[in-house]
Amino acid sequence: MKAVILAGGNGTRLRPLTLATNKHLLGLYDKPVIYYAIEKLVSAGIYKIMLVTSPQHVGDFVKLLGSGHNFKMSNGKQVQITYGVQNEPNGIAYGLYIAKDYVGSDNCILYLGDNIIEDDITEHVQNFRTGAKIFLKSVADPRCFGVATLDANNKVIGVEEKPENPKSNLAVTGLYFYDNTVFDKIVNQPQSDRGEYEITYINKYNASVYMHNKHEKNKK
Ligand code: TTP
Repeated sequence: MKAVILAGGNGTRLRPLTLATNKHLLGLYDKPVIYYAIEKLVSAGIYKIMLVTSPQHVGDFVKLLGSGHNFKMSNGKQVQITYGVQNEPNGIAYGLYIAKDYVGSDNCILYLGDNIIEDDITEHVQNFRTGAKIFLKSVADPRCFGVATLDANNKVIGVEEKPENPKSNLAVTGLYFYDNTVFDKIVNQPQSDRGEYEITYINKYNASVYMHNKHEKNKK
């Protein structure tokens, strides 16, 4: 399984912090935000990672992370980070599609680089085979998240982006597992009303779910 970390976007809500830099490069406690994503994936046994970001910031990520030489698996294996460039921040599904050839015939994890996942995801990585899996978290006020509705078998039957009247309190976090068919599903996807290729389009049918039982922090 390979991983794709998205670290592009506009970061408008964090201005002025993001006027001169990318939000994933900002410091959070003792390290840059992007470290949390990489360390989480590496601790789950993932060592092949493509980081997708904007042309303005890709050089800064290369300076910070290089080939991934500062991250090591517990078995000593070298982490390999490669880079993809998303010319415009035109949506998360589009950002993932940039990694199509990199992912090849593997399954992949999509990790939105501004999320901090506290739960151990190793077991999920090891057990994932086909389909899609998204990670949900009960939140007090879901209106600023993607909100999932589930059927009786805990399969996703709908996801609404930032609904005024949410149908559940289950917020979609920034971690998704997909089998290789995800790339076919992105092709021919229409742009949303806000002009983006939304990952919601992919997630809303039949994904299985995991509920974070501890704390998953998403700054949105
Ligand atoms: P968002 O927080 O939804 O968008 P943003 O980063 O542009 O911020 P704002 O809404 O404040 O302007 O993005 C979620 C994650 O996905 C974040 O890690 C950035 C990443 N992303 C991309 O890499 N490419 C994109 O086209 C978009 C929309 C987001």
